[in-house]
Amino acid sequence: MKVLGIETSCDDTSVALYDGDGGVVENLVSSQADLHGVFGGVVPELASRAHLVNLLPLVDLLLRRRELRLRDLDGIAVTAGPGLLGALLVGLSTAKALARAAELPLVGIHHIEGHILANALTAELVLPAVVLVVSGGHSELVYMPEIGRYERLGGTVDDAAGEAFDKSAKLLGLPYPGGPHIDRLAAGGDPTRFELPRPLIHDERLIFSFSGLKTAVRLTVEQLPRPLSDRDVADVCRGVQDAIVDVLARRLAQAARRHHVRAVYLAGGVAANGGLRERVAADAAARGWHFVPPARVYCTDNAAMIAYAGHCHLAAGRRDGLDLDSFARAPLASWR
Ligand SMILES: Nc1ncnc2c1ncn2[C@@H]1O[C@H](COP(=O)(O)OP(=O)(O)OP(=O)(O)O)[C@@H](O)[C@H]1O
Ligand SMILES: [Mg+2]
Repeated sequence: MKVLGIETSCDDTSVALYDGDGGVVENLVSSQADLHGVFGGVVPELASRAHLVNLLPLVDLLLRRRELRLRDLDGIAVTAGPGLLGALLVGLSTAKALARAAELPLVGIHHIEGHILANALTAELVLPAVVLVVSGGHSELVYMPEIGRYERLGGTVDDAAGEAFDKSAKLLGLPYPGGPHIDRLAAGGDPTRFELPRPLIHDERLIFSFSGLKTAVRLTVEQLPRPLSDRDVADVCRGVQDAIVDVLARRLAQAARRHHVRAVYLAGGVAANGGLRERVAADAAARGWHFVPPARVYCTDNAAMIAYAGHCHLAAGRRDGLDLDSFARAPLASWR
């Protein structure tokens, strides 16, 4: 079964083709990072307009590269939410029009289910599992007994982990999005120089809080001489990364112990973080949990994960009508 995936929930326009026989055969991503970079964050209206310009040419390119016509496909999967409504609407209306024109089944996908199932594109899933979903807009722990069943165990009470990375990076004068820059620079930083706070670390609940970290980073940076030296920036990056990774990994381990799972997984953009992958691998090895980090290309937004999720749902007989609507927010567990 060949499924076309479409993802436009934020600032990446992406289309992909998942083939039940061959796995992901195309995954095209047109990033808008340069467009939004000058503003230090995503500008929703600019994102929608860029999706409008880029989406159909990307679909066209994908079909040409594979020498396929729309009618050769078996279905279309599209991110219905959560995300920026205007951006989502571009993907959704395009998917509906293509499905209608070629008489193909259409299925809407919850973006976070896409991030979670991206793990299945790297290695066969071992279940039941606890997944730490850490991205630009989410930081949650999800219990997954089987594909399609998700229970939210807890999450952030304020900022998402990706936001904590990006806001800290901004305070250090690093480009947007800052997460990958902190990851790269932290590798050369001194882990003992800046001990940043680990909020709620002794709390029994499965919750995170990152807003205090941002203030601590600001106060730390304000005390350093200007202009910031490369050494100071690298050392602060190391402090930030170690603090975020420590709280995320501890909660993931806490959730995995409570739920007696066989495996732990990472999902979302922050799952690309080198420090987090290493720490979770070490914790999993010590506890006997199965863990394979998701391939980095499938961590940040991409349509391959949406095409794969669509393949699972279409194979299970699920279809959406042309009345499928986009949504800015809705919990994964209760959506539908
Ligand atoms: N190597 C890395 N280390 C830390 N953070 C990273 C890394 N790579 C990407 N990120 C962060 O991941 C986030 C983007 O992830 P993603 O594309 O999944 O988010 P989003 O789609 O904007 O949010 P959501 O999925 O919640 O709607 C950004 O905050 C970015 O800084
Ligand atoms: Mg995302």
